[in-house]
Amino acid sequence: MQQLSTKHLLGIKGLTEQDIQLIFETADNFKEVINRPIKKVPSLRDITIANIFFENSTRTRLSFELAEKRLSADVINFSSSNSSVKKGETLVDTVNNILSMKVDMVVMRHSSPGAPNFLAKNINANIVNAGDGTHEHPTQALLDAFSIREKLGDVAGKKVAIIGDILHSRVALSNIFCLQKLGAEVMVCGPATLLPKYISSLGVKVEYDVKKALQWCDVANVLRIQLERQQIKYFPSLREYSLYYGVDKKLLDQLDKEIVIMHPGPINRGVELNSDVADSEHSIILNQVENGVAVRMAVLYLLAAVK
Ligand code: CP
Repeated sequence: MQQLSTKHLLGIKGLTEQDIQLIFETADNFKEVINRPIKKVPSLRDITIANIFFENSTRTRLSFELAEKRLSADVINFSSSNSSVKKGETLVDTVNNILSMKVDMVVMRHSSPGAPNFLAKNINANIVNAGDGTHEHPTQALLDAFSIREKLGDVAGKKVAIIGDILHSRVALSNIFCLQKLGAEVMVCGPATLLPKYISSLGVKVEYDVKKALQWCDVANVLRIQLERQQIKYFPSLREYSLYYGVDKKLLDQLDKEIVIMHPGPINRGVELNSDVADSEHSIILNQVENGVAVRMAVLYLLAAVK
C-alpha cells in the first residue's frame, strides 16, 4: 500500500505533490462509497479519534465527524466553550487527558497559528490541523483542489483567483501552496489593506481590480471577510467593500467566458458574494462540502497507516 510521507497533516506546506495525488485517488474511492446505499466501510474500526475544537466551526467539524463515522472509527468530540479550558487547563494537559483515554488521532481547530505543530511535538498521536488561526487549513485546500479537478478534469494549468480577505485567511495560504504544488497559476485579489505585504514572494500574481481578476481566471475562490479577526478598520464599510469587491451576476455577465465560483463558507451573502452567484449554475460551493467528507476520509485513512 502507498503511504503518505508524513504522520501528521499540519499544513499543505509539509505535503509532497505525490501525497496530494494519493489523497485524491483515495478520496475518489471514498466518494464512490458515500454515494452507495450503505455508506460505511470498516477501515478504521479499531481507531479512536478525538475532534477538539477551540474555535467555532460548522462545516469542518461535521465533515470530520461524518468522515470518521463512515470509516467506522470511534469518535469523541470536545469543544472548548463547555470544557475545563474555561477553568484554566493548558492545551497539553487537555490533550494528554484525552489521550489517556486511548485516543489514536486528534483533529484540532485552534485560534493560535502553530498550535497543531506544538501538539505534534508533545504527544504521540496522529494530528490533523482543522484550521489554526490565520496560518493553514489543509483539508479545506485539499477539498477545494479536489473539487476543481472534478469540475475541470485537472488542476495543472488552471488559473485560480483567490478574492477577498487574504490577510486573515488560512484558506488562502493553504490554497496557494496546494494549487502551486499541483501546477495551477494563482492570483490573489482584494483591497491593498487585505493583501499581506509578503504575498508576491509566494509566486502569486497580485491584482486589485476584481473585474480583471475574474476576466483572467478559470476559477474564482471568493473568501469571507473575517470581521472577527479584524482589530482595526481595513475598508470604510461593508457596503463599500461589496460595491468594489463583491462578486455578483452583473460582473459575471460582463465576462467573455464562463468561470467556476467557489467559496469555503460560511458566506456573508451580499458582502463578498451575492446570492445570484452563490446559488447559480456557476457555483460549486455545495460540491465542495460534499467532497470534504470524501477528502477527509482519505486523509484519516492514510494517516492511520503511518505510525
Ligand atoms: N470552511 C470552514 O472551515 O467552515 P467552518 O468554519 O464552518 O468549519
